[in-house]
Amino acid sequence: MKASLMVLPGDGIGPEVMAAALRVLDRVAQRYGHQFSYREELIGGSAIDKAGSSFPEATRKAGEEADAILLAAVGGPQWDNPSATDRPERGLLALRKHFELFANLRPVRTYPALAQHVPLRPDLLVGVDLLFVRELTGGLYFGPRKEMGTGDEAYDTLLYTRPEIERVANVAFRAAQRRRKKLASVDKANVLASMRLWRSTVIKVHEEYSDVQLEHVLVDACAMHLLTRPASFDVILAENMFGDILSDEASVLAGSLGMLPSASLGATSFGLYEPVHGSAPDIAGKGIANPIGTILSAAMLLRYSLQLETEAAAVEAAVDAVLADGLRTADIARRDEGAASTTEFTEAVLAKL
Ligand code: NAD
Ligand code: IPM
Ligand code: MN
Repeated sequence: MKASLMVLPGDGIGPEVMAAALRVLDRVAQRYGHQFSYREELIGGSAIDKAGSSFPEATRKAGEEADAILLAAVGGPQWDNPSATDRPERGLLALRKHFELFANLRPVRTYPALAQHVPLRPDLLVGVDLLFVRELTGGLYFGPRKEMGTGDEAYDTLLYTRPEIERVANVAFRAAQRRRKKLASVDKANVLASMRLWRSTVIKVHEEYSDVQLEHVLVDACAMHLLTRPASFDVILAENMFGDILSDEASVLAGSLGMLPSASLGATSFGLYEPVHGSAPDIAGKGIANPIGTILSAAMLLRYSLQLETEAAAVEAAVDAVLADGLRTADIARRDEGAASTTEFTEAVLAKL
C-alpha cells in the first residue's frame, strides 16, 4: 500500500528516536512491499525558533494532507521562560485539538525479560497488560484560564461537557470489549463537580456495554493500586491530566518511560502517534535515548491508521525479541549490564525484522 506520513521530530531526543522509528518503518515497507512517504515538518521549540510558531501553518496543512502523523517530543529548558507568549507544549496541544484527537491510547505491559529490572516485586508484574484511555482535548488543559501576567493570580479550569465524556468513554468500553472486559474509570468525584459529571456519564454509557465490568477508582487511590495490583487492571479511563500523570507512573511497570507508545485518535482512522515520554533534555544529543516508545508508536500507526496488523505485530515482536536477547539502552540497563546506544538497539530491531 501507499501511505503519506507527516513526521515531526521536534526537540531534544526527538530527532534521535524519530530517526530510529523511520528506519523501522522503512524496513517494514521493504519487507512487506509498501510505499511510505515522509514529509518532515516543524513542531514545538524548534518550530518557534525556525518558523516563529510552535504549530506553524505549514505543519497544519501538511497534517491535513497526511494519512497519519508520527511525532517524537517537544520542549526544553531554553523555551521555559514564564513570560514567553508561545511555548513548545502549546504546539502539541494545538495539534491534538486541531485534529480533534480526543482519545489517547497508552498501552502498558510488562516484559518478562525485564522482570529483574523493575523496582517492584516480580510476582506483582505477572500478567500486567493494561490500556490507558486518556481524554486528550478537554479538562484542565483546555478550560478557561488566566495567565499570571504581571499579577498575583492565575487559574486553569477543569471543564467537561457530557458529550466530551461520552465519546471517550465509548472508546474505552469498546476497547474493553475487545480485551478482558474490565474498565476502571478514574475520577475525583468525592471532591470535584466536573468529576461527578464524569462518573455519572460513565455510568450512563455503561448501560450499552453490560458485558463490561465497570469499577470507579478515585485518582489518589488509583496511583497506589497501580503499584499494588497492576495485573488486575484492563482498560483505565481517565480525564486528561489524571491520565497524563498515571501513565508516567505506570511506565515503571514496563521498565522505563522511554518504552511507552501512544496513539491519539478521533472519529476516523487518522491519528497522531507519539511516545509517552518528553524531550529528555538531560540525555539529548548523546545517542543513548531509548527508541522503543517511538518504534512502538510507529507500530500503533501501522495498526490503527493503516490497518496493517501483521506488520504492527511484527515490529512489536522484534522489540520483544531484542529485549529477550538481553540488549538494553541505558535507561533500563542495570549497573551490571552494558548499555546499547540508540543506533545499536535500533539495528538489532531491524535485524529481527
Ligand atoms: P521527559 O519524559 O522528557 O524525561 C523524564 C525522564 O525520563 C528524564 O530523566 C529522561 O532522561 C528520561 N527519559 C524520557 N524519555 C526517555 C527515553 N526515550 N530514553 C531514555 N530516557 C528517557 O520529561 P521531563 O524531563 O519532565 O520533560 C522534559 C521536556 O519534555 C519538558 O519540556 C516537557 O514539557 C516535555 N515533554 C514533552 C512531551 C511530548 O512531547 N509528548 C511529553 C512529556 C514532556
Ligand atoms: C504528554 C506530555 C504533554 C501532555 C505535554 C508536553 C503537553 O506530558 O504527551 O504526556 O501533558 O499531554
Ligand atoms: Mn506526559
